[in-house]
Amino acid sequence: MENETSIYGDALPRLNEIMMYLVGEIEAVREEEKEKIGFDPVEHCLYRIKGEESMREKCRRKGLPETPESALEKIHDAIGIRVVCSFVNDVYKIKDRLISLPECEIVSEKDYIRHAKSNGYRSYHLILKVRGNTHAEIQLRTISMDTWAALEHHMTYKKHNSGADELIYAELKRCADELASTDITMQTIKDMIYENTHS
Ligand code: GTP
Ligand code: MG
Repeated sequence: MENETSIYGDALPRLNEIMMYLVGEIEAVREEEKEKIGFDPVEHCLYRIKGEESMREKCRRKGLPETPESALEKIHDAIGIRVVCSFVNDVYKIKDRLISLPECEIVSEKDYIRHAKSNGYRSYHLILKVRGNTHAEIQLRTISMDTWAALEHHMTYKKHNSGADELIYAELKRCADELASTDITMQTIKDMIYENTHS
């Protein structure tokens, strides 16, 4: 609506600037790795500023007033970046680079790869505070983890009537575990190829 103010107040340009700064840093690591070892560690990278309505809905869901303070200070994913890597090691490589940036402070780190959620969900979640005042959520995962999360999201995530069938839940979990095991094998194969071509 025309004269309704944004839930982000006047922070949108700053959010965009910080998001593009982070995306640029990720891009820089990709270029560097391609130069150094000949592989791009990132399969693809998506980013977005959470939409106005979606942020308002999240405030309501969390019982917060619909204000810039809630959207920027209490909720930490106004900026969301998803980095999808081909291999598990690459996830940690990118993560290590992001947390070592001088302009970034770690607010929280959740390693749902080493410690998968009970439903089988895997990803590395990072919340950073950039240049002292801007939060960003970065999800890092492999292609397999991303595929699983997309399918699971369609089927169950945050549905209220998830008295979801035990069987569906168990089968989804089994798929997640099988994919994780395949990820480890793929990593091993990649390492073997690399050793063969560099010895
Ligand atoms: P939010 O209230 O959504 O911010 O969740 P949270 O604060 O408990 O944080 P968490 O790190 O668990 O999840 C943040 C985001 O990760 C979600 O918004 C999803 O994008 C993703 N996510 C977390 N758990 C799952 C899951 O079980 N399945 C899928 N598909 N995505 C998940
Ligand atoms: Mg969150």
